[in-house]
Amino acid sequence: MTRIKKNRQTVKADNFWTDLKSAGRPIFALAPMAGWTDSPFRQVCKSFGADIVYSEMASAAALTFQPENTLRLLASAPRERPYVVQLFGAQPQHFQAAIALIIRHGLPAAVSGRGSRSHRRLPPDGFDINFGCPVRKVVKQGAGAVLMDNKKIAREIVKAVCASTDRPVSIKIRARVGRTDALVFLDYLSDLPLAAVIIHGRTMSQGHNGPVDLEMVRSARNCFPGVILANGGILDLAGANAALRQSRADGLGIARGALGRPWFFQELKSQKEIHLSWPEKAAVMLEQARLAAANGESDSLEIRKHLCAYCRGERTAGKIRANLMACSDWPALLKAIKNSKHLLAARI
Ligand SMILES: Cc1cc2nc3c(=O)[nH]c(=O)nc-3n(C[C@H](O)[C@H](O)[C@H](O)COP(=O)(O)O)c2cc1C
Repeated sequence: MTRIKKNRQTVKADNFWTDLKSAGRPIFALAPMAGWTDSPFRQVCKSFGADIVYSEMASAAALTFQPENTLRLLASAPRERPYVVQLFGAQPQHFQAAIALIIRHGLPAAVSGRGSRSHRRLPPDGFDINFGCPVRKVVKQGAGAVLMDNKKIAREIVKAVCASTDRPVSIKIRARVGRTDALVFLDYLSDLPLAAVIIHGRTMSQGHNGPVDLEMVRSARNCFPGVILANGGILDLAGANAALRQSRADGLGIARGALGRPWFFQELKSQKEIHLSWPEKAAVMLEQARLAAANGESDSLEIRKHLCAYCRGERTAGKIRANLMACSDWPALLKAIKNSKHLLAARI
């Protein structure tokens, strides 16, 4: 295995990040979103061309002490590869224990597009560390975004994760948290073997809204040799191309821009806007709903939220959403999708 020497530590050269980068095209990743980037949605995004898909963030402490539910959250299907599991936490030893558990047992297998479930429990292709979450219940544990301003612990966590796995390790950070901006943070970690970073170009205090600092992402190239993905506010093809131009990043992390619009990845790849008719959208909704049902999630809030997101911009969105949210099982959900006025008209 070829290795790039980087100070005392080494980065494995033949990982999926370097493969994607050496293809010479921008890399488009589905960024992690708690409550949204579950296996059915990741599979659909993959089918539209997402290069990499991230899990929802998972608690390293929960995986250490009570892993069953959290492992279920991380279930994945073979068609989702490369698949990156994102962990959050405040203690290096929890990350170590969580990764050891995942590598030892693999992840639960999700049902895939053809209705088949692989019997093999595979570990993910990479691990990501969350240094960007501003949510109160995360930061009050000393995890997520506050770690950018608590660099010593952040560094210990990165070291612990890199020492726990042969798989590439990436991080997701913010443009700034408190006294620490992305450049200072990346510089502080520059001797550690990180393969990639997603930079959400907003500060922690901005949360998830407001202007995105793509200049900061561009400057990150001076202190980070790995793959850099710009993230924040990328909602359409023109915005994506502008973000790539301004940031000179290797690619983009797409978050809310893919909700109810997983074909955004195909737009990015083909460089053509896609305007689906309602029946075409409904076919995608059905595919995702079927995957959710096959994975035992047909009555979950998550799938109904996802299906509602597809209705954005439709004239009768309110009515369709109300019907979807009222469903409590798979037959009702199927009926709500099929019976909407638009679908009947199109005979889906
Ligand atoms: C509902 C929601 C959940 C999120 N969950 C996570 C998460 O689990 N891990 C993470 O690193 N970022 C998370 N994020 C942040 C996104 O990955 C992304 O950085 C942010 O939404 C900015 O990108 P956007 O403007 O394209 O949506 C979440 C964002 C939203 C809106």
